[in-house]
Amino acid sequence: MSADDRVKEVGRRDLLSLAAWGAFCASLATAMIGMLRLPKPSVLPDPSLKGKVGLPGAIPEEEYRKVPGRNVFVSRSEQGVFAISSVCTHLGCVVAPAPAGFNCPCHGSRFDAMGRVVGGPAPRGLDWLKVTKAPDGELVVDEGETVPPGTYWKV
Ligand code: FES
Repeated sequence: MSADDRVKEVGRRDLLSLAAWGAFCASLATAMIGMLRLPKPSVLPDPSLKGKVGLPGAIPEEEYRKVPGRNVFVSRSEQGVFAISSVCTHLGCVVAPAPAGFNCPCHGSRFDAMGRVVGGPAPRGLDWLKVTKAPDGELVVDEGETVPPGTYWKV
């Protein structure tokens, strides 16, 4: 064995040692990154379907007010406050208020002022949504909970 062969052999050992240390450090760094990410949730909950719609006195009487950012119309009658979903029961388009109720721009379903179907392909009327009162006095509409049509929150 010559001196050059011994130098080459030591060089290979150093290279393997460096590679082993590199792999160890890379795995350690990956594990540390994973541990640092643990406190942060990777799956976030859905946004709440409940939303405040204002004080009872601020709800318009005998006309509909669209709640900003929500698929909800609120109104007030002699029986109380009620909320109607603005999602068409045919294929889910958002209905628009019309003089006689609501019209769906997608396939022409028409609903009366109480959300009942009066024309078009919609299989049933618009959903009525649960209205409750928050501790601060504002009304809360839950888009995830329907109530039978004609259910009012008594003012
Ligand atoms: S989605 Fe409203 S009529 Fe089809």
